[in-house]
Amino acid sequence: MVGGTGTVVAVVPAAGSGERLAAGIPKAFCELDGRTLVERAVAGLLESGVVDHVVVAVPADRIDQAKLVLAKQATVVAGGADRTESVSLALSAFSGAGTPEFVLVHDAARALTPAGLIVRVVNALRAGHAAVVPALPLHDTIKAVDADGVVLGTPERAGLRAVQTPQGFATDLLLRAYRAYQGAGAADFTDDASLVEHVGGQVQVVDGDPLAFKITTQLDLLLAKAVVRR
Ligand code: CTP
Ligand code: MG
Repeated sequence: MVGGTGTVVAVVPAAGSGERLAAGIPKAFCELDGRTLVERAVAGLLESGVVDHVVVAVPADRIDQAKLVLAKQATVVAGGADRTESVSLALSAFSGAGTPEFVLVHDAARALTPAGLIVRVVNALRAGHAAVVPALPLHDTIKAVDADGVVLGTPERAGLRAVQTPQGFATDLLLRAYRAYQGAGAADFTDDASLVEHVGGQVQVVDGDPLAFKITTQLDLLLAKAVVRR
């Protein structure tokens, strides 16, 4: 395996509406102790010391606000109808001459992700893994069910992981995965590694962190508030 020393760009999808949080405004623009989730996510990436530049995808009507709060810290683009589309639009912002060696894709909603996790992902990329996801063991037992709610089976928990972000990729692999996705038409992918798996890429897991939890519901927001005031 050949390691790389090139640049790292992080793409931050922040264009969701936050339906499950139901805060009345797009989730990434909710504040935690005076700073929006997207500001915190971007600052966390840059403060990790292993990210050179950030591209953020926000709702089209939030571009001006995002440019204002992020100042010179990030390039801001308009996101799309779903997460995959938002990432795709952000990736087009640097295809061409300024293509970095590695790309991280990081949910704005994982606003409290510790630097150590970001460093672990980039270190694994530099060690030669072309696709890297942080992950944690599961606490709950998982059931497979059919459309009527009948249990079909119980996958062995020890062999399962809950994955987080940032997910890291060799840029050429991620761009190839997204090109294949666009060729295939609409499919429901909830993370970027799935697209890479779809084109046959091998994905490596590194240790996640409980603080990289995704702020999805009001209960998560309550937890995040407690964490920042700690
Ligand atoms: N995201 C995005 N563009 C979309 C949808 C989601 O950039 N069209 C982003 C969100 O802003 C978030 C990340 O993808 O940072 C993870 O998505 P999720 O937690 O599901 O956020 P929302 O889609 O906003 O929330 P919900 O599904 O509850 O509406
Ligand atoms: Mg969503």
